[in-house]
Amino acid sequence: MTLATLGASGSPGSHRPFVPMLPKWPHIRQYSDHDRPGGASREEWGVHCASALETAIHYEGPQTVAAFLATPHGAGPDYGLVPPASYWKTIRDICDRYDVLFIADEVVTGFGRTGKWFGMEHFDVLPDIMTTAKGISSCYIPFGAVSVSPAINRPFESGDSYFIHGFTSGGHPLACAAGCEVIDIIRDENLLENVHRQSELLFSHRAGLLNHPTVKDVRGWGLMMVLELVKDKDTMEFFDADRRAEHLFQAIALKHGLVMYGTLYGPRRQPAFRRGLPAWISPPLSIDGEQVSDMMQRLEEALTEWESAVLD
Ligand SMILES: Cc1ncc(COP(=O)(O)O)c(C=O)c1O
Repeated sequence: MTLATLGASGSPGSHRPFVPMLPKWPHIRQYSDHDRPGGASREEWGVHCASALETAIHYEGPQTVAAFLATPHGAGPDYGLVPPASYWKTIRDICDRYDVLFIADEVVTGFGRTGKWFGMEHFDVLPDIMTTAKGISSCYIPFGAVSVSPAINRPFESGDSYFIHGFTSGGHPLACAAGCEVIDIIRDENLLENVHRQSELLFSHRAGLLNHPTVKDVRGWGLMMVLELVKDKDTMEFFDADRRAEHLFQAIALKHGLVMYGTLYGPRRQPAFRRGLPAWISPPLSIDGEQVSDMMQRLEEALTEWESAVLD
């Protein structure tokens, strides 16, 4: 929402009205299986995709690059795609070699969503800085936080530097209390274990979902499942904007009792080039097995009804 972060994120559709004001941060491609050559394993392709960071640092000049910022799983058309560990290990290695900080945006993946406290733990890779929000207070109270490693904290801890970053509600005690309570609940009610258990059940529906003519891919981790919806599985295109297919999907899902996140491909965005619509399922971490089955039954019915309305 700030110009700096809007410049750092990679969503050209929502950028458009603000382009003249945006700082132009360099970007690299993210990991994708979409263009992975047939002969390459995910691990090999992970190393290859990560090497784009070294190329970018080389052309920008290492002395001009302070940090690399990325989400543990894919964003945009590859939303929810989990890269192989080789990708993040190579990114970490490049950052270390060029003295570039690695900032993991754990706003979505942090605080249990993926089955671990933080997404980067799955790859055994430690960021220097983490941005977090959403799950940190389970969204009952608006709350975001930045966590830093001991090395980053050292000048602040010693009193040599001050952190000058004033927001009206910064460090709000009510939000902090909600965050502390959520952390206690995740730990005391074994919610990470529940995420593992329910994730298995959730992803057992993968094959059935892929049988749908519009479901090209089902991916994700923990209690984050992303369906890539397309008009045609061969051309990989989504419906023309004037069909308002995503709005219809949202409306039909709601009729079946499912609230689907609805701003992707909203009025300001264009469908991605030859990629489908990422639609995601991210239930509360406390969901039980019966509720997962009920949710997936409703999704099945909503998809079938939507397909009969939008497919010719
Ligand atoms: C990955 C990711 N990072 C950052 C944000 C923005 O977080 P906030 O609204 O707390 O600034 C979002 C919002 O949806 C997000 O999905």
